[in-house]
Amino acid sequence: MARDSVGNTMLVATILCVVCSVLVASAAVGLRARQDANKQLDRKKNVLIAAGLYDEKENSLDEVDSIFAASIEQVLIDLETGELVDTEVIDPETFDQREASRKPELSQAIEPSSKLGGIKKREKYSFVYRVKNEAGEIEKVVLPVYGKGLWSTLYGFIAVASDANTVEGITFYEHAETPGLGGEVENPDWKALWKGKILFDDQGEVALHVIKGKVSPSSADAEHQVDGLSGATITCKGVTQLVRYWMGADGFGPYLDKLRQSAEGGSDG
Ligand SMILES: Cc1cc2nc3c(=O)[nH]c(=O)nc-3n(C[C@H](O)[C@H](O)[C@H](O)COP(=O)(O)O)c2cc1C
Repeated sequence: MARDSVGNTMLVATILCVVCSVLVASAAVGLRARQDANKQLDRKKNVLIAAGLYDEKENSLDEVDSIFAASIEQVLIDLETGELVDTEVIDPETFDQREASRKPELSQAIEPSSKLGGIKKREKYSFVYRVKNEAGEIEKVVLPVYGKGLWSTLYGFIAVASDANTVEGITFYEHAETPGLGGEVENPDWKALWKGKILFDDQGEVALHVIKGKVSPSSADAEHQVDGLSGATITCKGVTQLVRYWMGADGFGPYLDKLRQSAEGGSDG
């Protein structure tokens, strides 16, 4: 057969395809453990950022594990009751929260799904990251949250003080919003605006929301408002919605009630 025959060309092309697929597949499989470890590290880093315990300008990634181990107590709670989950029933070491939201026995319906941008189910159990002071009292808690922006699901953390009402910080560590528009949810200057904001109004309803434009300091509602991101109103609406959902009765509301009581002398579960 001539070297440049159709048969030879097809054979070379097929061999090349097979070799390349094997290389790509092995790289993907071989690197999976490393990718998972990096994701895990990034989540820990973001828990710390939300809690105000890690500064990307001052700290290095090498410090994440040690700061996390020294300052964070990770517990698993039942979102419906706000109680801690028995570790005999669910092992926190192996519990994958995102995976759980897709498993029928570990999730429940969001009704109506429009409450959270069309997301139909949420996990029954959630991790809570507790930051304690030297006396062993809870100073703040970091809560995992997610919701829909314009293009994507935004995943982040909100840190709340032990009064269960004052925001200590916020981060978003995964999304596919447009850089420079919705992607500005990652901007440290914008995230800094959240610290000190108040979640609930006098009736106990979640009142904190992102407005369009700038918050007027003289506004009676300023403590419940955060500046909007220009050109990203839809992403901002998604952020407001996820704050309302996760801080409300269908999300961490029962846990926050317990935390409030514990700050007044009880226990958070
Ligand atoms: C290419 C492109 C990317 C966009 N990305 C976002 C985005 O990530 N988040 C968002 O809310 N709006 C985004 N928008 C704008 C929205 O379509 C919409 O106009 C905007 O949310 C309105 O916000 P504004 O009232 O602050 O201008 C994008 C628009 C274009 C053309």
